[in-house]
Amino acid sequence: DSCHVLVCGGAGYIGAHAAYALAHQGFEVSVLDNLSTGHREALRWGRWVAADLLKPDTLDAAFERPVDAVMHFAARSLVGESVAAPYDYYRHNVVGSLNLLQAMQRHGVGRLVFSSTAAVYGEPDSASIGEAHRTDPINPYGASKLMVERMLADAAQAYGLRSVSLRYFNAAGAAAHAGIGESHYPETHLIPNVLRAALGEAQALQVFGDDYDTVDGTCVRDYIHVLDLADAHIRALRWLDTTPGAHRFNLGNGQGFSVLQVIRAAEAIAGRRIPYSVAPRRAGDPPVLVAASDAARSLLGWVPRYTRLEDIIDSAWQWHSAPAF
Ligand code: UFG
Repeated sequence: DSCHVLVCGGAGYIGAHAAYALAHQGFEVSVLDNLSTGHREALRWGRWVAADLLKPDTLDAAFERPVDAVMHFAARSLVGESVAAPYDYYRHNVVGSLNLLQAMQRHGVGRLVFSSTAAVYGEPDSASIGEAHRTDPINPYGASKLMVERMLADAAQAYGLRSVSLRYFNAAGAAAHAGIGESHYPETHLIPNVLRAALGEAQALQVFGDDYDTVDGTCVRDYIHVLDLADAHIRALRWLDTTPGAHRFNLGNGQGFSVLQVIRAAEAIAGRRIPYSVAPRRAGDPPVLVAASDAARSLLGWVPRYTRLEDIIDSAWQWHSAPAF
């Protein structure tokens, strides 16, 4: 008897990689997505339900076949955009999640893995961030994710909902061999922008700020491969079989790389120089974000496979050199 997982946002970047990983591990998959930012071409695993989290009566269709657990990736996720349009972020991310939780309750579904973010920490006061670090988001995106985490804690208490919130650091890479990869419009993320500059596709690459208090003045991030994120979701789902409550885990490699280090690594992989110019700092960027992910390792048995930045960039390069969409 196979476990049926509903993947909300399964046509998006991280959700599609999770749908792929679930299908390959023998799970039955349904994808709920309205294709507002996701891609029809990424709907390759399981059946598709064209529902909208902001239209609660469209959600029941996703539960017609009994659902055992939900993974929830469907959200707005750009820090800068959230600062400019906070109502959009609270509506999609908080109200949308509440509608999903209520639909799960109507249909008796008691397990959820939720996409959270390192942005819940705000400006960290330590070089490496553990889950016990104070949460104090500096943008509406991070605040919206933290509000959902709070709802999940209350739902565990009141209704016995079991959940894991996974706080991703910087997702990167692709499963190009499976025909999926990162494709945002507009693209704002560093690694895709660097690789598209290498291919001569994007306008000139800009480095946002070179006067931070870091190794070379540029921002430092912890890049984690999207398939390692997918693996953590499946482990979290299995862990909830035996673990009640609402839980939070960081997901990162524990190693930080500066923007310039990313550009240099990409130059080695692409075999060409990547020109860039230095631009002013981007609003809302913390100088350094590096994860302590010991809890995911010890409790979920999670061991990232893509621990070298070169391997993460190389997998993204395979996708961007010949993207399927
Ligand atoms: N950067 C550039 N040039 C670019 C793009 C990015 O210099 O063209 C810099 C940014 O200023 C930042 C770093 O590269 O210093 C990484 O930027 P990204 O946009 O790739 O990623 P962020 O760290 O801003 O945000 C990502 C996700 C968020 C999540 C966060 C958690 O987009 O959803 O990681 O660490 F909250």
